Amino acid sequence: MNNSKEFSPGEIYEPSEETRRHAWVNNERIYEMAQDYLTLWDEVAKNDIEWFEPYESVLDDSNAPFYRWYVGGKINITHNCIDRHIDSKGDKTAIIWQGEPENEKERITYHELYRRVCRFANALRTLGVQEEDVVTIYMGMVPELLIAMLACARIGAIHNVVFGGFSSTALRERINDANAKVVVTMDGYYRRGKVIETKRIVDKALEACSVESVVVIERVGNGASMVDGRDIWWHELEEGLPDECECKALDSEHALFILYTSGTTGKPKGVLHVHGGYNVGTHITTKWVFDLKDRDVFWCTADIGWITGHSYVVYGPLSVGATILIYEGAPDYPQPDRWWNIIEQYGVTVFYTAPTAIRYFMKLSEEWLKKHDLSSLRLLGTVGETIDPEAWKWYYRYVGSERCPVIDTWWQTETGMVIIAPLPGITKLKPGSVTLPFPGILVDICDEKGNPADSGELVITNPWPAMFRNLWGEPERFAKQYWRSNGSGKLIYFTGDGARKDGDGYYWIIGRIDEVLKVSGHRLGSAEIESALISHEAVSEAAVVGKPHEIKGETPVAFVVLKTGYKPSVELKKDLKTHVKNEIGAIAVPEEIYFVEQLPKTRSGKIVRRILLAIEKGEKIGDITTLEDITVVEKIKNVKGAK
Ligand code: WTA
Repeated sequence: MNNSKEFSPGEIYEPSEETRRHAWVNNERIYEMAQDYLTLWDEVAKNDIEWFEPYESVLDDSNAPFYRWYVGGKINITHNCIDRHIDSKGDKTAIIWQGEPENEKERITYHELYRRVCRFANALRTLGVQEEDVVTIYMGMVPELLIAMLACARIGAIHNVVFGGFSSTALRERINDANAKVVVTMDGYYRRGKVIETKRIVDKALEACSVESVVVIERVGNGASMVDGRDIWWHELEEGLPDECECKALDSEHALFILYTSGTTGKPKGVLHVHGGYNVGTHITTKWVFDLKDRDVFWCTADIGWITGHSYVVYGPLSVGATILIYEGAPDYPQPDRWWNIIEQYGVTVFYTAPTAIRYFMKLSEEWLKKHDLSSLRLLGTVGETIDPEAWKWYYRYVGSERCPVIDTWWQTETGMVIIAPLPGITKLKPGSVTLPFPGILVDICDEKGNPADSGELVITNPWPAMFRNLWGEPERFAKQYWRSNGSGKLIYFTGDGARKDGDGYYWIIGRIDEVLKVSGHRLGSAEIESALISHEAVSEAAVVGKPHEIKGETPVAFVVLKTGYKPSVELKKDLKTHVKNEIGAIAVPEEIYFVEQLPKTRSGKIVRRILLAIEKGEKIGDITTLEDITVVEKIKNVKGAK
């Protein structure tokens, strides 16, 4: 890229000649061509994905919103992620793993990945795991996490990865809701030089679960206790098992995984994805948005326990046959340049991270970056929350040396794949904008009445291949919560995000319009944290809002009404924070807790969180006439003021 020209007036960054020439997509007419979206999704599925048996039709919308894609096709995502690469690139590195301790690392070729996935698939079979059984995976970032996921998929089992930062209570809730038969975990892993005692957390969770077996990978050798008849070491289970295992030909719509995510109620939603469409969607977005080529080293820093990790650490990149990098530890351990060190060491070419990380490093200063040669990088990505233009430009300038396009990608656990993002070879970039919908995806903005508008709620107006198919065990919630008719009888998908569209048709994401928080990129529901608080014996009512935070994006702040007999105190505050940590995990702990006498409620008893947020931010409160008792506002302000 010719740097100086990149900073053109109006802050539009044109793709460089170099990027344009080499990109997978360099024909601007792609957007036009993709208007016939089913043809595009047909071609992509036929050209880029291998099917055991061809599908009869691309989309069945007869039972909307329970759409079915690639109807009648037989597929297995692991065939596309592993088997089909063996002949042409068996010796290519599939996974580069870097442990937090610097001397612990591993390279796994596609061939070796094949053997290890097959062996573990056989191991799962010996435990009686069958098609459609659920296997919960609770681990740190080690290759066995991917191997376990792929092994499940290979035999048609459904994996349910739970983020390693969740507490034993949150883990238990997910294991029980998913009705998991087996748990795959580890003795522990490293984080900031300390060992996280994963197996201990699992044991606590399992005090009230009925799983049949627990497979434990030995990572740190901390002498984890094993329960007789239930727990087995990964290496012992695999002993003597063959490293060949048939790749099950599954129906396109066969369940691949459940991933729990937060919504507006206390109960997390089990988002369900399937083999066929998810394979097509993650594959083509990986290829076109990150523009991955055979020589690339792709590093997506997301934890595999979140959707970004599922789609863009594991399935998308492996489906395109890329080399991926995974790192076990903290970004700033042992020093704040650890990430830059890794990029230099392994020659990472495409780097995908979250605005919260960018803001963190921005605050630490670019000096840490300057110690490293980052010239291998050629493309930068971001996801999870809106990136402000300042952070965008810092990322562009200091990480990408004004050479690499910054690709801001908007999507969700539910969408499975990137929905709005630039295509690096053709899309002009505007810092802070997610730019244009991916070809074949139709989005719009609706006002409160559901009419098209320039500013309002972001909606997706047509189904897309990697869309979630259901909420585990809650089909009514799935059908009711996300889909609404647009007046002419067509169902459209409501994202829960506010957005606006500029004169060039570029999208700008404003943020969630429901009660979902993004804390350091982690998705959490106000209601979820509230129910954790309410489960404490001292708490009668609680309301949680997301307060803007310089680095984390948002941080939870709680307003708590105590039961009679309990008095506010510093100890109680501490106790409540520990309680939330135990119920959900450290990520959900409120930064501040205010003890109030009453919460602002409407006459029908609904808590008006908007008012609490305005009080917290010190902003104008706005209309309070709908409140049952308007004096509550002043009282809460006084509590805050007294702090
Ligand atoms: C937010 C993460 C602005 C958004 C992949 C969405 C974003 C929620 C962006 C989904 C972006 C994601 N710009 N906001 N580029 N990407 N979001 O399910 O509010 O963890 O609804 O999926 O993250 O979060 P989830």
